[in-house]
Amino acid sequence: MGLIRLERVRIGFIGCGGIGLRHMEELVKNPYVSLVAFCDIELSRARAAAERFGSEGASIFERAEDMFDRVELDAAYICVPPYAHGAELLAIEHDVPFFVEKPVNLYLEQARKIASAVERKKLLTSVGYMNRYRRGVQIVREILRSDPPILILGGWISGIPKFSPEAPIWGWLLRKERSGGQFHEQVTHTVDLARFLCGEIWEVHAYSVRGFNRDAPPEYNIEDASVVNVKFVGSAVGSFWASCSSNANGGGITLSIYANRTTALFTGWEHNLRLFRLNMEPLDVPGEPNIFEIEDNAFIDAVRLNDPSKILCTYMDGLKTMEVTIAANISMETGKPIRLPLP
Ligand SMILES: NC(=O)c1ccc[n+]([C@@H]2O[C@H](COP(=O)([O-])OP(=O)(O)OC[C@H]3O[C@@H](n4cnc5c(N)ncnc54)[C@H](O)[C@@H]3O)[C@@H](O)[C@H]2O)c1
Repeated sequence: MGLIRLERVRIGFIGCGGIGLRHMEELVKNPYVSLVAFCDIELSRARAAAERFGSEGASIFERAEDMFDRVELDAAYICVPPYAHGAELLAIEHDVPFFVEKPVNLYLEQARKIASAVERKKLLTSVGYMNRYRRGVQIVREILRSDPPILILGGWISGIPKFSPEAPIWGWLLRKERSGGQFHEQVTHTVDLARFLCGEIWEVHAYSVRGFNRDAPPEYNIEDASVVNVKFVGSAVGSFWASCSSNANGGGITLSIYANRTTALFTGWEHNLRLFRLNMEPLDVPGEPNIFEIEDNAFIDAVRLNDPSKILCTYMDGLKTMEVTIAANISMETGKPIRLPLP
């Protein structure tokens, strides 16, 4: 464990929508944190967040440039939609460690620029793939080191997200050119977990379907469903799927990993684990309901103690997951298998 570098971590938020507020709820419980600045292009959201979660004298901004220029920060949270990134470059310029929500970006060129700047400055970063912090995931990761994965299946099957006029996500989630589609925006969690547990992916081949999602609102232009077959460097094969058109229920979130002597079945948002091992009793490990708190505390400890070992997904790592889902999008369009890394 490193020496305590900071008694209090002064945080600024960029993006005060759904997930931003969720992190704020957890962070205000942490005695080592002060939420000192809030930025959102919709200033009313920054104001509402500051009133609810801000420390005394907290300030609000419409532009991230102004926040970084005017407030001394120890860390930043970047919680904006996939098409709206770029504030990372400001954080890097000001030497401010940052947490960024998944997927790290929609544009590969910008994400690569951010990654090289992070590397150059050796800046501490964390990406919001919170499932990596689950105990069940850690157990399976350890077992798969000596019993390599062979077949990986998983994804997200749901109906069309329920309309709520207050939810800012409605401006972008259902637009392909803003969210990147369901595979890039949601199944990114499953792809990331598969990478974390089973190693790198080197080839991707995807198929998708559109036009069946009756009752979708007019802004909807993402795929109704997709399947994405992948090959892993360690020779395992996998298939991931996405559907936001299965409106009669019965779907859900799953990740199943089959090795020669191990079967690991993760189900639901909490990734409850049912683990089977040859000649052993099955083991159940429930997923942690407070996973955002665990993930946020790991980032805050890493910043306070200047100890990057607490962080389970760095920006570079998150970028590799993004490459897989972007490759899937390219494959959906071209119908061809795509090799990684992308050019
Ligand atoms: N880890 C998870 O489980 C999880 C859950 C939900 C969302 N997310 C991810 O978090 C990101 C944000 O999702 P959300 O649900 O909070 O979206 P949201 O639409 O509810 O909130 C995004 C906020 O960012 C603001 N914003 C947009 N561009 C901005 C900019 N340039 N500068 C400052 N503010 C800006 C918007 O006005 C909005 O208030 C997405 O990438 C999403 O995939 C992750």
